[in-house]
Amino acid sequence: MNLKSYQALIEQTDASLSIYANTASFLYQELPTINWAGFYFLKDNTLHLGPFMGKPACTIININNGVCGKCVRDQQTIVVKNVHEFDGHIACDSASNSEIVLPLFLDHHLIGVLDIDSFEFDRFSTHDKETLEELVSILMSEIKKATISITL
Ligand code: SME
Repeated sequence: MNLKSYQALIEQTDASLSIYANTASFLYQELPTINWAGFYFLKDNTLHLGPFMGKPACTIININNGVCGKCVRDQQTIVVKNVHEFDGHIACDSASNSEIVLPLFLDHHLIGVLDIDSFEFDRFSTHDKETLEELVSILMSEIKKATISITL
């Protein structure tokens, strides 16, 4: 995954929603063996579905549930090698076998998560985790600069 291409893709964009939408598409195109990539945004302790690529997904996730909820509670990246062994995993697409969820921080506040699913078991290596954390840091610095903000 080329992070310079990613930055070039999103840095001329003024609307935050467009940045999130193109990020989901970029990840879906660039990462092999992925079946879902997208965002959930936090409002009143509930996660709401944002831009994504893949099959239709659950629109609301309580932060007490799922891998996404754990990411919000722990405020750190969660890597699940086998989702079938994760207590409380929410199966939006039955093809998913492993998952990574990264927190999105804006001015030190957690505003949502980036969720990526794969049909491969143990798909996300430490290198993938570090690369995706770098991508999220580029994403959030561009979101901070976006002049058209569409909020929940
Ligand atoms: N599997 C997630 C739910 C979202 S879908 O994967 C798109 C979870 O357990 O939180």
